[in-house]
Amino acid sequence: DADGAKRFSLDLRAGRSEFLPGRITENTWGVNGAYLGPTVRASRGDKVRMAVTNSLPETTTLHWHGMRLPARMDGGPHQMIEPGATWTPEWTVDQPAATSWFHPHLHEKTAMHVYRGLAGLFLIDDPDGPPLPDEYGVDDLPLIVQDKEIDDAGELETSGVDRGTFGLLGPTILVNGTYDPFVDVTTEAVRFRLLNASNARVYRIGFADGRAFEVIGGDAGLLERPVRVDRVKISPGERVEIVVRFSPGETVVMDSRGEPRKTANDIEEDDFQLLKIVAAAALKASPGLPATLSGPGPETPPAGARVRRFSLSGSEINGHDMDMTRIDEVVPAGATEIWEIDNTTYAHNFHIHEVAFRILEINGAPPPAYQAGPKDTVFLPKEAKARLLVRFGGFVDPLTPYMYHCHLLRHEDKGMMGQFVIV
Ligand code: C2O
Ligand code: CU
Ligand code: CU
Repeated sequence: DADGAKRFSLDLRAGRSEFLPGRITENTWGVNGAYLGPTVRASRGDKVRMAVTNSLPETTTLHWHGMRLPARMDGGPHQMIEPGATWTPEWTVDQPAATSWFHPHLHEKTAMHVYRGLAGLFLIDDPDGPPLPDEYGVDDLPLIVQDKEIDDAGELETSGVDRGTFGLLGPTILVNGTYDPFVDVTTEAVRFRLLNASNARVYRIGFADGRAFEVIGGDAGLLERPVRVDRVKISPGERVEIVVRFSPGETVVMDSRGEPRKTANDIEEDDFQLLKIVAAAALKASPGLPATLSGPGPETPPAGARVRRFSLSGSEINGHDMDMTRIDEVVPAGATEIWEIDNTTYAHNFHIHEVAFRILEINGAPPPAYQAGPKDTVFLPKEAKARLLVRFGGFVDPLTPYMYHCHLLRHEDKGMMGQFVIV
C-alpha cells in the first residue's frame, strides 16, 4: 500500500482434496485453496491490512492466534463474518519473532471449521533476531500436524468431532495437509516449526532413531538459549520450533510416541509416523546455533502481582460455561498477573488471547526447559495445576473482550471459554 502497509487477501472457501491416493474428499475447507491456507508473513514493525472474505455457506471468523492486537481485530467469536462478507482488520505487528497461526473461532463451531481445514501459519519475523536457519522451504520448514478420520469413500468423518470426552481423535495423520509425507533436505541443520492444529490430539514428537535435537522456540517466541531434548510434547494450539542436524544420504523418520495412559480418562496419545526426511548425498554446511537466542525472560513475578484463579472442571471454567454477554475478568492495561489454573478433571489445555505468558510452575515444579520461554497455550494433564506469569498488552477496549479457553476444540465449543477485557 501507499503507506507501506502489507496487504493480504484471504478467501475462506470450500473445495475438494485428495488426501488418500485415489480417494477424493469432496468437502474440505481452506484459505485461498481447498485445504489449509497460505503462510502469512510479516516483520516486527509492519502494518498489516487483511481482507478476509467468507465464501463458505456458513458464518465463521478468523482469529490470529498468538498475535498481540486490539480486541476488535482479534477474530474471536464476536468478529463474525457472514457468508459473502469481507472483514478488514488491520494492526501493526509489534512483538518478538514467533510462529503464530490463524483459524476460525465461531462460538460452538470452531471444532468443525478447523477440522474441515481452515488454518494457516502466520510467521512473525524480527530483523534484529539471532542468526537461525531461515530459508523458507529449504532449511526452515513449517509442519502443521493434524489427525483425521477418513472413511473408505474418502470423505472426512465428522461425526466424532462433537462427540465424546475429547471429540475426534483420528487415526490418520496429515502434515501440511499431506498424508504419508516426505521431504528432501539439503542442509546439515534444518529448522522445523511444529504447529499442532489438531482438534484434540496431543503428540510427543521426536525421531525414530532417538536422536537429540535443539528446541529454539515455543508459542510466542524464542527461548533464551537452545535446549537439547529427544522428545517434545505439543498439545492443540501449541507451537514448538526445533533444529535438527542430518548426515549426508540418511533417511530419518520424525514420529510421535504417546505416553501410556495412566487411567481410562486420560487423553489417548498413540504412536504415529509424521514425516520421512531424506538427506541429500551432499549437504550444505550449516553453522551451529547461537548460544543465546533472546533476552532473559521474567524470572520472578513482581511483588503484589494480582492472582486470578481458574478452576477447570468438565467443560466449565470457574463453574460456568461461556456466555458471549458476560465479561468474566477485567484486567488493567499493561498488567503483569499470576494466573493459576487448576485442572480438577481429565486433560485440558489453556490458551489466552493477546498475551505472552511464562509457565512458572506446573504441579509445583518449574516446566521442562523447552517450555520455559514465552507461550500462549499450556497443556494441563489430568488433575494438573499450572501457575502462569501473564503479561497483558495495552489495547484498551472495555467493550470488546478477548478469550481464554481450552484449546481442545470440542471443549471450547462446549463452553470451556471465558472473556476478559483490558481497561
Ligand atoms: Cu487458537 Cu482462541 O484460539
Ligand atoms: Cu488465540
Ligand atoms: Cu479441555
